[in-house]
Amino acid sequence: MSKKIRWGILGCGNIAHLFVQGLKTLENAEIHAVASKTPKKAEAFSSKYNIPNYYCDYIELVKNPKVDVVYIATTHNFHFENSMLCLNHGKHVLCEKPFTINSTQAQKLIKTAREKELFIMEAMWTKFFPCIIELNTLLNKGIIGDIRYLRADFGIRKEPDFDGRMQNPSLGGGALLDLGIYPVSFANMIFKTTPLVIKSSCYFGKTGVDEHSSYYFEYDDGQMAHLFSSFISQTPHEALISGTKGYIRILDFFHPSKMSIKLNDCEEKIIEKPYKSTGYNYEANEVMNCIMDGKLESDLMPHKETLKIMKLLDEIRNQWGLKYPED
Ligand SMILES: NC(=O)c1ccc[n+]([C@@H]2O[C@H](COP(=O)([O-])OP(=O)(O)OC[C@H]3O[C@@H](n4cnc5c(N)ncnc54)[C@H](OP(=O)(O)O)[C@@H]3O)[C@@H](O)[C@H]2O)c1
Repeated sequence: MSKKIRWGILGCGNIAHLFVQGLKTLENAEIHAVASKTPKKAEAFSSKYNIPNYYCDYIELVKNPKVDVVYIATTHNFHFENSMLCLNHGKHVLCEKPFTINSTQAQKLIKTAREKELFIMEAMWTKFFPCIIELNTLLNKGIIGDIRYLRADFGIRKEPDFDGRMQNPSLGGGALLDLGIYPVSFANMIFKTTPLVIKSSCYFGKTGVDEHSSYYFEYDDGQMAHLFSSFISQTPHEALISGTKGYIRILDFFHPSKMSIKLNDCEEKIIEKPYKSTGYNYEANEVMNCIMDGKLESDLMPHKETLKIMKLLDEIRNQWGLKYPED
């Protein structure tokens, strides 16, 4: 690839910093502009990463004709309106997870992107890690036989912040949409089909969102997944995939650098697959390759997968009666 892809960064919060650090390691990426509604943040961000243009209004960013693709790094509740703004100004989009608040919004974004022949992808960075690519290769070869069971947890103990994005319902707060999406997405990657049985439970905190929640999926051949997420308790962040010939354990399964394989009657073997930089470079690279190839979606994180995950999250929330203003 010789042409540079020019990026715009929309929103200057925590994740935008890590993403840009990853992006800066990619030869074909040029970070052309950044926008934050907080003027000081826009200026400081542009100066820290040497970005030539900064704006205090998102509309100025999307009007910049040189920007090819926009990375959306705002809180969940803004993903739909920010992505739509970009699409309506002819920009390709990489939008942070969860893609939207619900599947209705996701469907609308995908339809608009297709109509306008623009690329759009949910930033489910896990899918692009070298270790995950290797895991899928091994599973497809049947290394652990028929997969029967998955267990995955993502709990991070956060200090209470009722106005912050984890707890504030108007920002799309709740463990499921922020953290639970990882084990849910992981289960989808492992089992591929739609679960026939979905059972879930949650604990609502003071602000009315799930502070922790668990999900149980059962698939058509009796395969099962036990999944958990929380922002009030710390967990190991481990995925265990169990099959007829053995099992695989992956620590930090949403951004792994190694996994262990234990086949029946054999010693446990560690496979190291370290990742470079912050790890966000892999999804960014996929976006650039797709744009250069004229593709409207990624084979590794296709539209139908994003939609399927959003529908699962809708169904789980439905079981609890958890609604957001966007519903
Ligand atoms: N892929 C990953 O590993 C990963 C990790 C963390 C988060 N994320 C995702 O990235 C997104 C952003 O997370 P973050 O931790 O970076 O969030 P954050 O720092 O709390 O906020 C990001 C940006 O959203 C806007 N924003 C935040 N609170 C707002 C409010 N109350 N009213 C209006 N605008 C507000 C601000 O945009 P301005 O700069 O324009 O003011 C802020 O800079 C989330 O959707 C999250 O799921 C992904």
